[in-house]
Amino acid sequence: MKNKRIVILGMQWGDEGKGKIVDLLTKFVNYVVRFQGGHNAGHSIVLNNKKTILHMIPSGILNKNVICIITNGVVLYPCNFIKEINILKKQGILIKNRLFLSESIPLLLEYHIAIDKAREKFCGSKSIGTTGRGIGPSYEDKIARRCLRIGDLKDVNYFQNHVKENLDFYNFQLINFYKEKKVEYSAVINELHKYREYLLSLVIDVHSTLHKIIKKKKNIIFEGAQGSLLDIDHGTYPYVTSSNSTIGSVFSGTGIGFSAINYILGIVKSYSTRVGNGPFPTEQFGTIADSICKIGNEFGSTTGRKRRIGWLDLVLVKYAVQLNSLNGICLTKLDVLDTLKLINVCIGYKHIKTGKKIYNIPCTINDWKNIVPIYKKFLGWNKSTFGITEWNLLPDAAKDYIKYIEKILKVPVVIISTGPAREDTVFINKNF
Ligand code: GDP
Ligand code: IMO
Ligand code: MG
Repeated sequence: MKNKRIVILGMQWGDEGKGKIVDLLTKFVNYVVRFQGGHNAGHSIVLNNKKTILHMIPSGILNKNVICIITNGVVLYPCNFIKEINILKKQGILIKNRLFLSESIPLLLEYHIAIDKAREKFCGSKSIGTTGRGIGPSYEDKIARRCLRIGDLKDVNYFQNHVKENLDFYNFQLINFYKEKKVEYSAVINELHKYREYLLSLVIDVHSTLHKIIKKKKNIIFEGAQGSLLDIDHGTYPYVTSSNSTIGSVFSGTGIGFSAINYILGIVKSYSTRVGNGPFPTEQFGTIADSICKIGNEFGSTTGRKRRIGWLDLVLVKYAVQLNSLNGICLTKLDVLDTLKLINVCIGYKHIKTGKKIYNIPCTINDWKNIVPIYKKFLGWNKSTFGITEWNLLPDAAKDYIKYIEKILKVPVVIISTGPAREDTVFINKNF
């Protein structure tokens, strides 16, 4: 593989298995870049039976030949970022000269977390079900042009005054509107003083670095976080995250252009999951959901919350495929369906009042409430696919399931994941 610049994106509501696939493909690349989201992400990698969960650090870090870069589109909470580095260092992973930051990265600080939590509590049953990590408020700060960025840490007077002004603004809301405790200035400032030198030591000129390595035809993975249905513009609004998690954010979040990318790989889970609130037409309850949850270990990598479970929704995935102009699909967690007698796949919706069939995604929350899924039924394969590495060894019923997905989505399935480890993978097309 040469001169390959691959974007890896989630096609559902996150947790499709992006971390495993990024880690798997890092053996082919020189750089892995994180370009949006924050420590709301939780990307799991299983190596030698040991699970590592990464929130901020690109999933290339476990491969010692890879350099990891975090760019301007991300929001960074220093405390958690450093904690994650320390965990990796304890595992013997070399960080020095392998992890770099853009100085334009907005900092996510204590007051963003306090506001996120206060808002969620205030909204009660209408809450979004955020990860409570301050993601929304920190992106709001960026758009409102009042965030503190990593580069600002160079000037102590500037950042101290800046924090004071922001804190006045947020504490006013916390105390007077939300009736919560204020965030102490000293707590925010002490953290910043503690981490500033280290953070600044990781800063590089991301713009010139990316342009140089692209010119040198280096292989790069751009690692997406969340999934297309959580995208602030195109997702199931307002039950979304606060960044764009579709293809456009690669460009705005790094400072490269469209022609620098030559492959867009979408990660699709063989069924659906969602953490937090919001529409989920194919959601299941009872024994089937319990079984998938247990076999698939569907608990949030970031918050530990039980993930909601449902059938694969091809209306939504097709929409995500189109949003991102995908070149190929990686289908993950096929093995989780092994024991099911019957597997449903949503191929359209029916309006509950008019009976009309609908093949595109609703816009408002009320529209979402008025639809029910139309399913195509598949017989289960009732055989273990766990750890299978060759297409020919898959049961016929599993092959039929995959071929149907390909037919509806009109994009080739190039990788199939049959377990959490690197080796549990079928490569359909190694030169994708
Ligand atoms: P991400 O956020 O997209 O990186 O996904 P997460 O790491 O949050 O969640 C995916 C979960 O499924 C993790 O626990 C992975 O170890 C696990 N996983 C990934 N691929 C497979 C697979 O093909 N089969 C099984 N059984 N587990 C998988
Ligand atoms: P990865 O990268 C799954 C969800 C939250 C909530 C909504 C908004 O691991 O796939 P936020 O804290 O971002 O304001 O929460 O988005 N969410 C995720 N769900 N995987 C993720 O990341 C997520 N990141 C955010 O659960 O519903
Ligand atoms: Mg995750």
